Amino acid sequence: AQKIILDCDPGHDDAVAILLAAGNPEIDLLGITTVGGNQTLDKVTYNARQVMTIAGVDCPIHAGATRPLVKDVETAGDIHGDTGMEIHGYELPTPTVEVADQHAVDFIIETVMANEPGTVTLVPTGPLTNIALAVRLEPRIVERVKEVVLMGGGYHTGNWSPVAEFNIKIDPEAAHIVFNEPWPLTMVGLDLTHQALTTAEVEAQIKAIGSDVADFTVGLFHAFRDNYKDAQGFDDPPVHDPCTIAYLIDPSIVSTQKVPLDVELQGALTTGMTVADFRAPAPPDCHTQVAVNLDHKRFWDLVTDAVRSVSSR
Ligand code: BDR
Ligand code: CA
Repeated sequence: AQKIILDCDPGHDDAVAILLAAGNPEIDLLGITTVGGNQTLDKVTYNARQVMTIAGVDCPIHAGATRPLVKDVETAGDIHGDTGMEIHGYELPTPTVEVADQHAVDFIIETVMANEPGTVTLVPTGPLTNIALAVRLEPRIVERVKEVVLMGGGYHTGNWSPVAEFNIKIDPEAAHIVFNEPWPLTMVGLDLTHQALTTAEVEAQIKAIGSDVADFTVGLFHAFRDNYKDAQGFDDPPVHDPCTIAYLIDPSIVSTQKVPLDVELQGALTTGMTVADFRAPAPPDCHTQVAVNLDHKRFWDLVTDAVRSVSSR
């Protein structure tokens, strides 16, 4: 199994990423770290604890950065609601999981340095603040981690501006740090995640499991459906964050292309844009790649299997 640290800001789709990571035998979830993003750090950390409680997720949870490196706090209330994981028709539990004392950034560094080189993958599905801080505090993690597989950005589209995606736009300076370190980095951006649509068939498939976790998951989808329709005009909502985990479980579900990437910090209109240079074949030392095509059916089958698996705990 692949050892990962999931750095997230739940968030409806972050919650699905937690379920997929916890419910698939190919993933060894070393820990969950949280970062201010979709909502304030306190709220997303509480939400992560709720998801862990619902699904019986048995790994440590560490809270991280409360704010971006340079920019002011900005949250995504129109997509994730006031709590950051607002759902209707499902009663969220009071969490029974406690947050560890150690800061998320220290946990990331300690875990990467304590494991064999090349064995721990970082999976950020929120703003990149914690990862950037970890790199600056302990630069040796760069050659030590196996790879970084992140949800963020897009090479042809944005959602928080015409050309910038939320996770990158919220903390572009942190993203700039993370994209420019020489570790292998896979950007699972909007080009890919806008294919991860929750259709009526997908909902029915998960509902048919008939468990508490399945009801929770369907509740997440319903809220996402309403919010994405109102905010961005989607008929079926894209569930971004679990695409990172699916890629790690089975790379044949997510095709990729090597391409140099950088993050715009100076743009009048383009701050937070992830700029991909497709003009020529990627040079041999190119350490970045983008996710291109999703196998929709096999992706949702993985999520369904994971929900079924955590349901039986
Ligand atoms: C990303 O932004 C957040 O709102 C989602 O959780 C996802 O990580 C999509 O742009
Ligand atoms: Ca997220």
